[in-house]
Amino acid sequence: MNDATMNNALMSNVKTTTKADVMTESKISAKNVQVFYGEKHAIKDVNIEIRPRSVTAFIGPSGCGKSTFLRCINRMNDTIDICRVEGDIAIDGENVYDPKVDPVQLRAKVGMVFQKPNPFPKTIYENVAYGPRIHGLARKKSEMDEIVATSLQKAGLWNEVKDRLDAPGTGLSGGQQQRLCIARAVAVSPEVILMDEPCSALDPIATAKVEELIHELRENYTIVIVTHSMQQAARVSQRTAMFHLGELVEEDDTDKMFTNPNDQRTQDYIMGRFG
Ligand SMILES: Nc1ncnc2c1ncn2[C@@H]1O[C@H](COP(=O)(O)OP(=O)(O)O)[C@@H](O)[C@H]1O
Ligand SMILES: [Mg+2]
Repeated sequence: MNDATMNNALMSNVKTTTKADVMTESKISAKNVQVFYGEKHAIKDVNIEIRPRSVTAFIGPSGCGKSTFLRCINRMNDTIDICRVEGDIAIDGENVYDPKVDPVQLRAKVGMVFQKPNPFPKTIYENVAYGPRIHGLARKKSEMDEIVATSLQKAGLWNEVKDRLDAPGTGLSGGQQQRLCIARAVAVSPEVILMDEPCSALDPIATAKVEELIHELRENYTIVIVTHSMQQAARVSQRTAMFHLGELVEEDDTDKMFTNPNDQRTQDYIMGRFG
């Protein structure tokens, strides 16, 4: 192959990305989503496109539906008896509520990190190995060791725990436990990571570490984070969505949302007038 043909061959593999592509690219697409808890209408006709490999923050006063909407994305609301979800949520164009979707597989693809770190009462190693084991991701011990090590590295925890993988996960500090939970999510190679106020139980130093980690994870994962901290939303996210009384008020570039939002309710919330 001469240089010219090689170049052509290479070029034909390069996906040319125009600005319009970037603007419309969407990992998660929610259309006309409604959620009810019995009679209570908790999410009212929410439409949102969530971009791949970026961080989207959900903000809004307590009780406005942030967690409820987040849980729609990996069908965690299925576990709440009185909860009913309507509308469409698609990931890469595939409806997550399609009857042929297995919620267990879905939750591997769409990992979740909760407010309170919740490691299993098992060793650090087992906390990370559990998911890959039930999903059959390793054929032998050496492969599992590799998955555990790389997941802990990705979660920024490896150096702190590599000499005590057999110690209980619950013996770690709160911040370390939360990074262990992130390692556990990462271990099954998710595409999306949902985080529901992941730092609210952490001190400022542990919070800074998790925020730094979110920044790194963004290169490979689509992240949606619920936060009650406007500073945190501004620090970690590229896009911000504001919820109020079950409605999505607006969603825009984070810079724009915090400097010049379109909606008065966003303005009032970021100025600390309610919530
Ligand atoms: N399991 C549940 N059963 C009944 N109502 C619920 C449940 N979870 C949330 N809600 C209600 O749905 C609304 C939205 O709650 P939530 O999504 O937790 O808000 P946020 O995360 O923004 O604080 C609230 O009125 C709340 O009381
Ligand atoms: Mg919540």
